[in-house]
Amino acid sequence: MVRAGSVITIETPAKINLTLEILGKRPDGYHELRSIVVPVSLTDTLTLTTTYAQTAMTLTVSPGVDLTKIGSVDKNLAVRAARLMQETYRVNAGARLHIHKRIPIGGGLGGGSADAAGVMLGLNTLWGLARPREELMALGADLGSDVPALLHGGAVLMEGRGERVRGLFADEPPFACPGFWLVIANPGVMCPTPDVFRKWRGGLTPAPSILHNMTSSIRTSDVSAAADALYNGLQPGVFETYPDVAQTATRLQEAGCLGVLLSGSGASVFGLARDEVHGQEISRRLGSGLWHVLVQTCPVV
Ligand code: C5P
Repeated sequence: MVRAGSVITIETPAKINLTLEILGKRPDGYHELRSIVVPVSLTDTLTLTTTYAQTAMTLTVSPGVDLTKIGSVDKNLAVRAARLMQETYRVNAGARLHIHKRIPIGGGLGGGSADAAGVMLGLNTLWGLARPREELMALGADLGSDVPALLHGGAVLMEGRGERVRGLFADEPPFACPGFWLVIANPGVMCPTPDVFRKWRGGLTPAPSILHNMTSSIRTSDVSAAADALYNGLQPGVFETYPDVAQTATRLQEAGCLGVLLSGSGASVFGLARDEVHGQEISRRLGSGLWHVLVQTCPVV
């Protein structure tokens, strides 16, 4: 029996893709991916409160968050994650979800997936379910392609349509993950993921060295090598369709980043810095006209 009124607070991190190779189109309409995904220290804060089973799942967000960008409550990934947990495990309780959003919505940073992953982990504890993480990852794959990677945590290799995820170096915690500093910038335009994938036209097959080079730069925490190994197969199409995104990348480059890349399907772009001080310098040069944030990969949360 779950007691109503129990509360848990979770910081749920955004992600970036250090590499994103599109290997081809699948018969189910999705694309076959190979991507190195790492969490970053930009988080949403989730507050989950148990309610009586009869209470519908409710969602609130912090003032200032553009609810029109979030869409309807029924389609919200966090709410869908809570309902999925409730149905799958026949839980005789409900939940109230409050999300303090910092991760830009529709920004290629996995914000919706991060919230869903955080809700699943939080309710797993709050409702006393104690289900293993791998089981939650399999369940979460149907919610969104980034959910399993964010449930896993640490630096992961994501394959398939996103459902095959393993730690880049080992599958046991503590997961190896570099502490790279980077600046994420977002021009405020929306690049809907299905549109971005639909426009993908193949082009050159990604070089086999992409995965190898990025993996070894992470292993040795070599940020200059990582800057050289950055790759996103969706980037050319997005830069062509959304000039504001391409311009954001140019601004990061001109501000002194070691390497710049589109995150996921955009619209956020990130640039690697040598260290924290260099990151602060880049932030200062970007000024106040463009939304940006200095973060580190692999936060301890
Ligand atoms: O799974 P998710 O909801 O994040 O995907 C959003 C959309 O992105 C999908 O509906 C699909 O159009 C596209 N996508 C894809 N191949 C993937 C992941 C996403 O084509 N591996």
